[in-house]
Amino acid sequence: MVEEKTPLLRVQALKKYFPIVKGFFNRVVGQIRAVDEVSFSLHEGECLALVGESGSGKTTVGRSILRAIQPTGGSVWIKIDDVDVDISKASEAELKVMRRHMQLIFQDPYSSLNPRMTVLDIVGEPLLVNKVYNRRAREEHVAKLLKQVGLDPHHMRRYPHAFSGGQRQRIGIARALALQPRLIVADEPVSALDVSVQAQVLNLLQELQTQYKLTYLFISHDLGVVRHIADRVAVMYAGRLVEIAPVDHLFDHPRHPYTEALISAMPIPDPKRAIPPVLLSGEVADPSNLPGGCAFHPRCRYAEDRCRQEMPDMREVEAGHMVRCHLAEALSLEGLMERG
Ligand SMILES: Nc1ncnc2c1ncn2[C@@H]1O[C@H](COP(=O)(O)OP(=O)(O)O)[C@@H](O)[C@H]1O
Ligand code: SF4
Ligand SMILES: [Mg+2]
Repeated sequence: MVEEKTPLLRVQALKKYFPIVKGFFNRVVGQIRAVDEVSFSLHEGECLALVGESGSGKTTVGRSILRAIQPTGGSVWIKIDDVDVDISKASEAELKVMRRHMQLIFQDPYSSLNPRMTVLDIVGEPLLVNKVYNRRAREEHVAKLLKQVGLDPHHMRRYPHAFSGGQRQRIGIARALALQPRLIVADEPVSALDVSVQAQVLNLLQELQTQYKLTYLFISHDLGVVRHIADRVAVMYAGRLVEIAPVDHLFDHPRHPYTEALISAMPIPDPKRAIPPVLLSGEVADPSNLPGGCAFHPRCRYAEDRCRQEMPDMREVEAGHMVRCHLAEALSLEGLMERG
């Protein structure tokens, strides 16, 4: 048997709780369980999409992986050139080395770029900070990066306000690529853009991925956005993963009722479709006050008594297809095929 390569990223039982403090003495009166027991791995060159409604904990997972915030528990192993480091426990010196290999692309291209810096300075800053290249070589490298993301290098002395939303996102992408990272966490990279521009930026991300063998954790609240870019999809609900599967499996044969509801809410071009969408009633569970049993049970149309009492474990129902639902085998859920 061929030994499977160690993944680039292994997230194990990741947990991030935010304390709720009250009063003059900052007494801790509760915990927001933003991320709980999240485990997944990501292979080199793969794109894993992390999807779920707003507030489900996606950004907190992304920030914990890059250690922009300190996780409450669990580990985040990153393996670069045979060096395997648990980012959650790494020293500042180790982090400094590993951070070169991991970059973040932000959601909002309007607020993530410093308005007082030129494009040259924005894109060249990581090179300057890491003392890569002298001034001239840096400028040449920035010009090359701008070309790669579809911008005119002659505009590198302009400020962000001179660019459109889509162009600004391209500037953010060029900056993220400056140090030739291996892992990119893209947190809702197209959510703030017009639909017509979204497709262009998605295409660019896909081209760059092929060209540089990049590995993506692609975060989105919109399942439709990830369909053409992801190899696998992980669905998150109230701080926990509820389903992980290869992208076609997930869309054609969802095994979790929450995924079924998300798929059925996707806009479909044919208005004559026969099946009405599965309505996702009620609010997303409050992570400071989660319902007992399966956290999705108050919104689940299949919920049984057991669901109100016992929290389901994540288990493999088919090769590579993990689900957290008591009834995963018993239910026959609707995928995209039935709807389109
Ligand atoms: N710094 C913070 N302090 C307290 N609560 C936070 C903080 N960051 C996120 N949260 C809470 O954690 C939960 C998950 O948030 P987030 O990871 O931003 O979700 P998503 O990206 O899926 O919308 C939300 O309830 C949010 O209010
Ligand atoms: S465990 Fe029960 S409530 Fe939770 S998703 Fe499955 S059927 Fe619905
Ligand atoms: Mg978010």
